[in-house]
Amino acid sequence: MPIIINNQEDIKKMRVAGKLASEVLDFITPLIEPNITTDKIDTLCHEFMTKEQGTIPAPLNYAPPGHSPFPKSICTSVNNQICHGIPGAKILKKGDIVNIDITVIKDGYHGDTSRMFFVGEPSIQAKRLCEITYQSMWLGIRQVKAGAHLGDIGYAIQKFAESNSYSVVREFCGHGIGKVFHDEPQVLHYGSPGEGLKLEAGMIFTIEPMINAGKKDIKVLPDKWTVVTKDRSLSAQWEHTILVTNSGYEVLTVSDKTPKPFLD
Ligand code: MF3
Ligand code: CO
Ligand code: CO
Repeated sequence: MPIIINNQEDIKKMRVAGKLASEVLDFITPLIEPNITTDKIDTLCHEFMTKEQGTIPAPLNYAPPGHSPFPKSICTSVNNQICHGIPGAKILKKGDIVNIDITVIKDGYHGDTSRMFFVGEPSIQAKRLCEITYQSMWLGIRQVKAGAHLGDIGYAIQKFAESNSYSVVREFCGHGIGKVFHDEPQVLHYGSPGEGLKLEAGMIFTIEPMINAGKKDIKVLPDKWTVVTKDRSLSAQWEHTILVTNSGYEVLTVSDKTPKPFLD
């Protein structure tokens, strides 16, 4: 299947969906404090999406082939959890790091974005991991331009993460997104310059590197969704939804409180 090239109408709707996804993170930011449960974060986000925004939380009951339906409206991945953490009774405590991943559907289009949050003061190591992961996402984003290749993105991310003695998770990747949640192409967070798909203006995909403080190996918990580091090391992830343009890129998942881009 060819990669979808979005027209102006699609792009307008993807801007709206992207902003709404980012605004859910803005909404939840002040509420991430010691003693909140991940279930409470899910409920608050669910209510905000469905009642305030009129958006549909895409993860709820999402069931890709071979998977059981995801039971909640958002993903919350804490400390050694890499991604797809299921909100539950877990109480966040001082020093935890948590990724909150939001995907909304508005007018048939998906917006997908995640950020890392510190619960109270983070350790120096946790803070560094989150910052390096954020920078690696941005180094990937900055490769995006019509004529560039997917491998340029993966290479930029991998080189930076590994030069900081971290590792890149291989089993999960960014993805095309639009009317479909997870579409082609797969956007790997490792690779070689000049390899892979050549980018064209109008393509839209996510960049969402998962970076481990220890080894790259993963394990899936018995809940069949939550992905953790095999060596129990900390893991971090950030995600934006990106439009390819002739001059570069447009980040679609932006709102008032989006962290500033990293542009060294
Ligand atoms: N939002 C995740 C991503 O970035 C996917 C979550 S799927 C779920 O692609 F079912 F786990 F919610
Ligand atoms: Co996501
Ligand atoms: Co995604």
